[in-house]
Amino acid sequence: MERENWASKLGFMLAAMGSAVGLGNIWRFSYVVGENGGGAFLILYLASVLVIGVPLLLAEVSIGRKAQSDVVGSFQKLAPGKPWFLAGFFGVVASFLILGFYSVVAGWSMYYFWNYLTGELFAVPSEGYGFIFDSFITSVYQPLFWHGLFMIFTIFIVLTGVKKGIEFANKLFMPALAILLLLLAGYSLSLDGAMEGVRFLFQPDWSVLDDPSVYIAALGQAFFSLSLGVGTMMTYGSYLSKQHRLPGATVGIGIMDTFFAIISGIVIFPAVFAFQIQPDSGPGLVFIILPDIFAQMPFGGLVGILFFLSLTLAAISSSISLLEVPVAYFIRVKKWSRKFASIVTGSIMFALGIAASLGMGGLSHITPIGDYNIMDSMDFVASNILLPFGGLAMALFIGWHFTKQQAFEATDLTNSAFRNIWYLLIRYIVPVLIIIIFLNTLEII
Ligand code: TRP
Repeated sequence: MERENWASKLGFMLAAMGSAVGLGNIWRFSYVVGENGGGAFLILYLASVLVIGVPLLLAEVSIGRKAQSDVVGSFQKLAPGKPWFLAGFFGVVASFLILGFYSVVAGWSMYYFWNYLTGELFAVPSEGYGFIFDSFITSVYQPLFWHGLFMIFTIFIVLTGVKKGIEFANKLFMPALAILLLLLAGYSLSLDGAMEGVRFLFQPDWSVLDDPSVYIAALGQAFFSLSLGVGTMMTYGSYLSKQHRLPGATVGIGIMDTFFAIISGIVIFPAVFAFQIQPDSGPGLVFIILPDIFAQMPFGGLVGILFFLSLTLAAISSSISLLEVPVAYFIRVKKWSRKFASIVTGSIMFALGIAASLGMGGLSHITPIGDYNIMDSMDFVASNILLPFGGLAMALFIGWHFTKQQAFEATDLTNSAFRNIWYLLIRYIVPVLIIIIFLNTLEII
């Protein structure tokens, strides 16, 4: 079968940005920043994006474009008979783990969208939004229903094909989300006590860096947010033809993704302090804070509808990129049809998500890693272990398996002023940093 291709470089850019921008920028970013003490963590995160994330993004997309294959196939094609392709399997496993819980959280967002549409969440409930959120996520059937619905949408878009399915949502709703976030940031900054939130986010308290788990959290967040290490960007890159130039595109994706994260921080933290909620409240943070903001602001109900709609669609453009990784793999290896591959892999992810969702309530006593519930454990293994490991393999692959000339050619850096610095980063600095952060983490688990 012919492999699909993006219609244009814009098509690729939109899809890759759509993949990067999602729940990771808003939901995950804000609670992880909150849990890790704010400003100093933010600086570590930004450093990880700049020094490790963006150079790796270029590497990952380039490997895919050169090989024109899925995450396992790309390594096999460029290094036949060598063990590199094992990193591809880590990617496939990570895609199952991540989309398993990602779809549950996206389901929460859909549920909020629905409840704003019906007006249910307009006014602050007597028990407060925190209580409403907790009773929803700890219940059995409701979250599973929305998780299932979200997965059905994801499967449907992936089975209709990469291009056709993806482009529409991104063109309309990414700008919508950006505009809403800017608006909300302005409002949030005007709240009484907002400055304390601004200080939390931007004024580093360096003492939080004494805790070794902060480093891996920053690295994991950078990988998660940029969709790195799984093979998502490799797979998307494999649908690119040779005439497009990559370095500018990857820097653009990095800037865009960071922009969304920082603006969400400016929305969330001033409000966290204004409404006197603990910044380290965990994964429920945005689902408790945002409704509080909407309830106070003029036309808040309408803003709530639009916000959760845009957030859900941003989540869909990310979830399809995750599902595409195993689908592309199974289509090639098992000769499955796109339809069959999407349904089978999506259903397995749905099942994993059931465990994650029940782990918020009835199964909360099950803590596979430390005191982490099922969802946090899936996230930890995927984001903080499998993704950095995948990224390490990609950096070593392009830095040591390729010759220097091959590496420059694959990335379109041959005539670029930045080629030597990129090469230095990818060959030495990125691998060394990832290994150091890993070793550091071994002490905590
Ligand atoms: N980056 C997306 C987000 O921020 C999620 C995502 C999509 C992802 N593809 C990925 C995360 C691959 C890790 C790996 O919401």
